[in-house]
Amino acid sequence: MADTKTTRPTNVEARLRATARAPWLSDWGKRALNLDYEEVGLQSPVVTSHRIAELGDGLKDVVNLSAGGQIHRDPPQFVMDAVRQAVDEKRFHYPGVRGDGDLRVALAEKLACDNGIQADPDTEILPTIGAQMPIDGAIRLLVNPGDDVLLLDPEYASIEPVVRGYGGNVISVPAHDTPSGWVFDPDDVRKRVTPKTKLFAFSNGHNPTGLLFSREQLHAIADLAHKHGFWIFSDEEYEKLVFDGRKHTSIAALPGMFERTVSAYSFSKAYCMSGLRIGYMAAPAAFMDHMYNVIRFEAQAVGALGQRAALAVLRGPSEEWLRPVIADLQADRDYLVARLNAMPHVRAHTPVGCYFVYARVDRDVPSWELAERLLLEARISVISGTNCGRSGKHYLRLSGCVGRQRLVEGLDRMERMMKTL
Ligand SMILES: Cc1ncc(COP(=O)(O)O)c(C=O)c1O
Repeated sequence: MADTKTTRPTNVEARLRATARAPWLSDWGKRALNLDYEEVGLQSPVVTSHRIAELGDGLKDVVNLSAGGQIHRDPPQFVMDAVRQAVDEKRFHYPGVRGDGDLRVALAEKLACDNGIQADPDTEILPTIGAQMPIDGAIRLLVNPGDDVLLLDPEYASIEPVVRGYGGNVISVPAHDTPSGWVFDPDDVRKRVTPKTKLFAFSNGHNPTGLLFSREQLHAIADLAHKHGFWIFSDEEYEKLVFDGRKHTSIAALPGMFERTVSAYSFSKAYCMSGLRIGYMAAPAAFMDHMYNVIRFEAQAVGALGQRAALAVLRGPSEEWLRPVIADLQADRDYLVARLNAMPHVRAHTPVGCYFVYARVDRDVPSWELAERLLLEARISVISGTNCGRSGKHYLRLSGCVGRQRLVEGLDRMERMMKTL
């Protein structure tokens, strides 16, 4: 018999709550807990982030529809070969804070060719631990306590706690759920700019809605950044995972924007190598001199094997490898959206800029409770919308990247449960 008791504190959660005011804990540690969510009747996504994992511990046969990576797929053979070769070459020692020179040259060529960004490989590009390290680095180096940071709501879960940790004020810019799909209106940014605005941070393609920002929208943001003097953090984790033949545009490629943009990229998702923890960032040299210090003091260097794997992607036939992968993911995306829309109480739009579907569930059950019930009663794991922002009380994020077999099984289970809600 399934244990259907929900919203109970878990071990880590209990400890986090018990220490939330501890005198020894820094302001960073306290602020990053996002406990202010609970003052407005939501659940803190940070404090409760272990709940699903702990509830799921020991549960058998859970279908994971929350995964961010393509867990059913191996990286390209030429990437695995490069890692093997790096082991044979005994690349086990510190690679240097700046990373491998040949990798940075290849990254500069890729940025110029694919993104239209001219960045100097010696001073304006650094390999990083995924695109996650640049989130922390950019915010740490740009945001002072009391600065306003404009963030879409919803947005990738990791950005808000980091902004709060460094004392920034999160100013939410809504993405609109309209009958014809998710809509971003740059005018919503304009309305929220103040003299305290330091940064606009966003993911493009957008996790979780799958929005892909148009050139016109990016121009509008760029105009505001120029006019009001704020910086941009552009998280382009999903740049290669774009559907329907659409083209991804990097805001740093727009006139005058490289000078005020920190762009982050990753090999994790497209090439199924999230475990190698390799990404990179590009920004003006004056900023990168400080990012060098962040990497040096925080991590000493970025893993040597991941850097060789990244070089293999850049120098190998990765576009050819990616083409059928994208076709598969696009078919799975269509299947996921169709199945969700056929369920009672559920409404989903078709994502273009990544493989997540951010679905609305019109039921009087908050998303965090629904996610727990889906796990305990239906044995599927999904992400509660409140992980992605305050507007997420009635949304769930589901991954279309876990393979068709898991999708079919997971959605069958979800459908059965939705019929009982
Ligand atoms: C938008 C976005 N940025 C960054 C990351 C971090 O991933 P990684 O550090 O593996 O590149 C993720 C992972 O889910 C993501 O969705």
